[in-house]
Amino acid sequence: MSDTRRLNGKVAIITGAANGIGRAAALIFAREGASLVLADINEASLAQVREDITGIGGSVVIQKTDVSVEEEIKSLIGLAIKTYAKVDILVNNAGISGLLPSLEDQDIKEWRHIFDVNIMGPVYATKHIVKHMKERRQGSIINIASVAGIRSGAGGNAYSASKAALINFTQTSACELGGSNVRVNAVCPGLIETEMTRPFFEYARSAGKELQVGKYCELRRAAKPEEVAWAILFLASDEASYITGQALPVDGGISASLSLPGRKI
Ligand SMILES: NC(=O)c1ccc[n+]([C@@H]2O[C@H](COP(=O)([O-])OP(=O)(O)OC[C@H]3O[C@@H](n4cnc5c(N)ncnc54)[C@H](O)[C@@H]3O)[C@@H](O)[C@H]2O)c1
Repeated sequence: MSDTRRLNGKVAIITGAANGIGRAAALIFAREGASLVLADINEASLAQVREDITGIGGSVVIQKTDVSVEEEIKSLIGLAIKTYAKVDILVNNAGISGLLPSLEDQDIKEWRHIFDVNIMGPVYATKHIVKHMKERRQGSIINIASVAGIRSGAGGNAYSASKAALINFTQTSACELGGSNVRVNAVCPGLIETEMTRPFFEYARSAGKELQVGKYCELRRAAKPEEVAWAILFLASDEASYITGQALPVDGGISASLSLPGRKI
């Protein structure tokens, strides 16, 4: 019987794979037959994800990597090619939130740090993988942006600006690389329960307000990391072979509506 797993024989790099959406994508990719190269700054949690994946029979290597450091990204891509001889999929998922005080109280160092991780990380990884993907005339790059990069009001201003930059970088990269059969897309999550949003969910539960979490999106709820990972899987797979340059919201419909407080019943 032939192997019908959707990423059978593919090799994928996922950054920020120790938690949340990256971890969920790693597990789903492994179940769908991909060999994995996983990166994160959180070494202990990353090692746990490796255990989880080997536990389900997956093939995986991990490397502690700070995506904001170009040399570390280069080394990660080198490890992937040394281990598996090729890379088919790159998921630029590592990201940080931040900056909610009003503009005049903001620290420019924090702006730079958010940009270093959220946009320069994907820039370094794309820069160092494209020669390999172009030579093989095959590749799918997925950048994890945010609805915050499409509309304001879903994060701090530096976070939103970094995700808007990432969506635009996705489009310019797709245009440059389309002729080499390398696809580049973004996924724009709405409100997902992960380590990043844990304080928000914990506060809502402690205040008895959990039913209000996510209520302004059309589906009236927040999502699980797996619900984003399934969209990443689709864009990574050959089922998306004619899709490039797109920013796919996975947000319960919030980017489709005006979401006026009090309007929804
Ligand atoms: N959770 C949400 O509601 C939400 C919404 C929209 C977009 N996103 C985006 O999804 C992506 C994943 O976030 P998540 O919600 O799973 O968060 P998370 O905090 O659970 O996971 C992010 C991971 O990235 C790692 N990381 C942080 N900085 C890093 C760096 N410099 N180098 C390498 N790894 C680093 C963290 O250690 C962590 O394991 C991020 O890009 C985030 O902006 C999340």
